[in-house]
Amino acid sequence: MASPTAPAHSAAHARALTEIWSGLRRSQKELPAKFFYDHRGSELFERITELPDYYPTRCERYILATWMPELIASFGPGTIVELGAGSGEKTRILLRALETLPGRRAYVPIDVSQEFLHRAARQLAVEFGRLDVIPVMGDLGHGWTLPEGLPQPRLIIFLGGTVGNFDTDEAVALLRRIAVSLQPDDRYLMGIDLRKNPAVIEAAYNDAEGVTAEFNNNMLRALNGAYGTTFDLEAFEHRAFYDSAKHRIEMHLVCRRPHRVTVPHHGTVEVEAGESIRTEISCKYDEDSVAALFEAAGLRVVEFRTDPSGRFGVVEGAPIG
Ligand code: SAH
Ligand code: AVI
Repeated sequence: MASPTAPAHSAAHARALTEIWSGLRRSQKELPAKFFYDHRGSELFERITELPDYYPTRCERYILATWMPELIASFGPGTIVELGAGSGEKTRILLRALETLPGRRAYVPIDVSQEFLHRAARQLAVEFGRLDVIPVMGDLGHGWTLPEGLPQPRLIIFLGGTVGNFDTDEAVALLRRIAVSLQPDDRYLMGIDLRKNPAVIEAAYNDAEGVTAEFNNNMLRALNGAYGTTFDLEAFEHRAFYDSAKHRIEMHLVCRRPHRVTVPHHGTVEVEAGESIRTEISCKYDEDSVAALFEAAGLRVVEFRTDPSGRFGVVEGAPIG
């Protein structure tokens, strides 16, 4: 049944409504994780990265701090392109090294969180006056277009373990898109959260301060605000667990009572008491599974490093052949 309440503002808006609708119509209801990141969601994610329980950011920062000055100096990228850039907090380690190189150098952060992206880019442009900072709003699931004439070679980076928020097919498709865009001299750098004791992983997604729960619930607020859905925020509670067979965290919002949600231009969906909506998967890798992912995408592993605790890894790749 069509609901005429909210006008479709653009093709992207209409496509988002279709994604929401089709996700809610599956037997396991789901919503794409990219919808976490309205401005408030991006700020909540920043708070998550500072939590004692959330180890990935600290571990990745260690790897970047101990590896990047040397890699950037020897590789000498003209441009760093960052997928899912967020605040660029850890990226500063790379940008500091990039800024010391002579000639024109550029940084291109790509993100779906438009306002946050532009604010972060303005801040970085002030901090790194020698670099051209060129933000690009884009959805990694649907492709992106880089500005013309970027200094070569390029280093494409995808940090934070965000690749884990895509299932295997989506991750292969995303990496393939990267692989075909790479020139022989370009490089690719990707952070991955590693498989480990499930209790350590589960604690990272069930933090004591409840910030992750707020981040999860905020997706419904973001959807109501941007797309006119009618989720009752009070009706849902946070749940996150590790699936050892699939090597991934699943985050859900579990419905406390029967609830009817309207999706403008599509119709209504019933959510039963105890039923959940999956809002995120966060896949964990190891050296073999990341090598297999690279191979499937047409990339080869150049180097793989972990932090001293072995919790998080960063892999450098190059196009095959
Ligand atoms: N790279 C940062 C931020 C990680 S949070 C770090 O390592 O800390 C994930 C980031 O990816 C957010 O900024 C979010 O807005 C962005 N993101 C998530 N899904 C996306 C998509 N489909 N397309 C583009 N950006 C996306
Ligand atoms: C962005 N991404 C890698 C985070 C993760 O750990 O999967 C998002 C997140 N979800 C809950 N906490 C953090």
